[in-house]
Amino acid sequence: MTRALLFAPLLTTVALAAEGPDYSRMKTEQVFEQLCSSCHGKDLSGGLGGSLVDGEWKHGGSDDEILKSIKEGNAQLGMTAFKTVLDDRQIRSLVIHIREKEKQAKEKGMAFPKPEPGKVTTTQHENYKIEMLVEEGLKSPWAIAFLPDGRKLVTEKAGRLRVIDASGKLQKEPVKNTPKVLEHGQGGLMEVAVHPDYEKNGWIYLGYSDGTRENGKPKTITTYVRGKLKDGEWTGQELIWKADDKFYTDAGVHFGTRLVFDGKGHILFPVGERGGWHEAQDVANAKGKIYRLHEDGRVPDDNPKFDGKTPVPGLWSYGHRNPQGLDIDPRDGSVWSTEHGPRGGDELNLVLPGHNYGWPVITYGMNYDGTPITGKTHEEGMDQPVIYWQPSIATCGLSFYRGDKFPKWKNDLFVGALAQQEIRRLRIVDQKVVEQEVVLKNIGRVRDVTDAPDGFIYVILNGPDRVVRLVPAE
Ligand code: HEC
Repeated sequence: MTRALLFAPLLTTVALAAEGPDYSRMKTEQVFEQLCSSCHGKDLSGGLGGSLVDGEWKHGGSDDEILKSIKEGNAQLGMTAFKTVLDDRQIRSLVIHIREKEKQAKEKGMAFPKPEPGKVTTTQHENYKIEMLVEEGLKSPWAIAFLPDGRKLVTEKAGRLRVIDASGKLQKEPVKNTPKVLEHGQGGLMEVAVHPDYEKNGWIYLGYSDGTRENGKPKTITTYVRGKLKDGEWTGQELIWKADDKFYTDAGVHFGTRLVFDGKGHILFPVGERGGWHEAQDVANAKGKIYRLHEDGRVPDDNPKFDGKTPVPGLWSYGHRNPQGLDIDPRDGSVWSTEHGPRGGDELNLVLPGHNYGWPVITYGMNYDGTPITGKTHEEGMDQPVIYWQPSIATCGLSFYRGDKFPKWKNDLFVGALAQQEIRRLRIVDQKVVEQEVVLKNIGRVRDVTDAPDGFIYVILNGPDRVVRLVPAE
């Protein structure tokens, strides 16, 4: 309720002043709230951008260095440059604000309250306990997938595929000979997905940032391959989907990435718009799309048509920004995605063949610096999100619950969130959200959340980097 009240005047300001709100008339706390909290968290403990209160500074921790970070930003890595939005005096006040919060966090003993294994968490329908599976040894894990023998595969952004053995121990050695990944901004080795008939065919799918470096400048886009795991080694790799060279870009943002099987011989997966905004609207352009292919990468004959235009091969839907969550409703086979939007524009979408999801022509979000993207939220021929989150929660990871360990959560949809460091449970009836509840909070940024064959819910956390699972409290 308070959120809605806070947000109403903000939207009015934006609508009235095309150049954005007048920050010189705001308190520093308010400026931070409006310009920075969407990425760094309301309490500065991190989100899409890192924590500003953990005492760790990638670009130098002196006041002047922090001032420079804010002024100049880092476009490739997704940090906005604020020198045209704020003057030196305002930026200096922000540095002071950050220092104050850093001190407070230190005094509280820790920036992140540690989860307490053994403690029961009570939610509306189910009670659970948290179990720490991996507490140390992973660096920026992104996704988890499950082998039938109890082993688990975890991707690390820098390009390593790690194995957790059936006893729950993280093996020291990553899988050998995995494809060359070009870690770049938000991209790296991201998705891992195990074929539902793994026992018969052994296929494992990977989604990652592929590319080259030209004169030191990376040019990348998401790509998908499949291969097999043999004696700790990646073998028999086949290319599943790769963009035409002309779509590779030096932008470091919005790779999208996830991969699901529809159980009818197809895979579906997104490719983010890579900061290319309007490219998402062009059906011949690889960026900002969701694809459907046969499991071996061939384009199905019954994929949607696009009004006589020749789409990029495999195109299923378009007008997407940065989909980092994708799953299929086990009840009716419908495809759902969560899309990391601009500030205030995170979406849950019901993904239908041939449909246009509107980015950047329509959106509920605005630019991170507070300036409007478009006044439009609706347009003929463009789909509305099923729901959207304002303020943004920074969605990442999405999973229906198919297991039987939490019977009252059966078929509910779990949404991970980075900035808000939480998992939300949505109940979907007739393709509408009828319940929404936060079921986990404040133990780290949620990069992936997924149900598993053992019936537990697994969560990949970033900062600190961990794998935890939710088990029923008896
Ligand atoms: C669109 C998301 C986004 C917004 C909005 C944003 N940041 Fe950032 N910020 C980032 C990212 C991502 C990084 C990390 C960049 C890197 O690794 O170089 C970052 C880095 C920083 C750093 C450097 C941290 C270090 O470790 O050296 C500072 C300081 C900072 N941001 C402050 C701010 C302030 C203050 C604001 C608001 C005026 C703000 N940011 C708004 C995404 C954002």
